[in-house]
This record gives sequence, structure tokens and C-alpha cells, in this order.
Amino acid sequence: MKKKATAAKAATKKSAAAPKNNKKSKTNAAGDIIELILKDHKPLKKLIKVLKSEKAEKSEKETAFEEFAPLLLWHAQPEEKVLYVHMKEDSEDLRVEGYEGDMEHALASQMIDEVRASENDDQWMARVKVLAELVEHHIKEEEEDMLPDTRKAFDLEARVQMGDDYLQLREEFEMPELSSTNRSSSKKSKNAHELHLN
Ligand SMILES: [Fe+2]
Ligand SMILES: [Fe+2]
Repeated sequence: MKKKATAAKAATKKSAAAPKNNKKSKTNAAGDIIELILKDHKPLKKLIKVLKSEKAEKSEKETAFEEFAPLLLWHAQPEEKVLYVHMKEDSEDLRVEGYEGDMEHALASQMIDEVRASENDDQWMARVKVLAELVEHHIKEEEEDMLPDTRKAFDLEARVQMGDDYLQLREEFEMPELSSTNRSSSKKSKNAHELHLN
């Protein structure tokens, strides 16, 4: 009980500090940060399948990677800055999960750079596979442990408030190019990446 009150207060406090153009906080389950995160995970999981596939050609994986990298960074940034921040203000268990999440995001971000810096096709294929496995594991843990724990720790009102903050923060970042026709979207990817590292 005490925990819920604290969480709601923390979420409210954060929202109060944010710009006010997106202020209406309806207690609508669709705006629950958990639902928003689950929705964001779906396209990432599809792309992970391609990146891990033994059958896919390198060209197919390259196309998937150029969608995956900016999409991942675009998701990770508000997830860290909203959900993980609140988790780290909560119970010990959630705090540890929040720090784990930070660490895995940092590793994924570093691995994206390493994939891009690969010196040959075999190295690229190996690195992209390890990246995909890391993110797959990360998403699985989020969905099986972290999000259920978040649901227990924060009431719906607090989660919807966090959902507002999540969407608002995401709007501040440029939508990454998701089209596979724009393979040279590295400029936008880089922007998202730079934001992530700030
Ligand atoms: Fe994450
Ligand atoms: Fe996530």
C-alpha cells in the first residue's frame, strides 16, 4: 500500500516537471506504460527472428538490422528515462531490475556500434546474432519479470501517468526511418544513438 502511494507520488512529481502540452491523464488501460512497452516490443521481436535466423541471407539481415537498431534505441531511451527511473526509486527488487535494464541497454547500444564496425561479413553475422540474442533475453526478462513486478508495484493511475511521460519523451526524438528502402538512414540512427548515450 505504502509502495503504491510512493510510486504514484513519484510519477505525479515527474509529470508535473514535464511540459504541459500532453497533460490529460485519463486512467485508460491503453495508456498504461506496460501496454505501451509490450506494443513496442512486438516489431523488435519480429526483427530478432530474422537477425537470428540460420536461413536468412546477409542482405535480409542487413535490412532487418537497419530497422532494428534505431527502433531499439528509440524504445530504450524513454523506457530508461521513465520506467527504470521510477523502478530505481522503488523496492530493492525493482531497483536491481532497473539497474540491470540500464546495463543491458548500454551493452546493446555498444554492440550496435560493434556490428557497424565489423571488418568482414562473417564478423558482422556473428556480432548481429549475439546482439539479437542479448536483446531477446532482455525483452523476455522484461515481459516475464519486470513488467509483472511493475504491475504489482504501481497502480494503474501511476502507470498511465508514466505512459504519458513515456509518449511525451518519445515524441521529442525523431522517429527513426523504418523503411527498408532507406538503408543509409544511419544519420537518424546516429541521432537516436547519441541521445541514448546522453
Ligand atoms: Fe529495456
Ligand atoms: Fe523494453
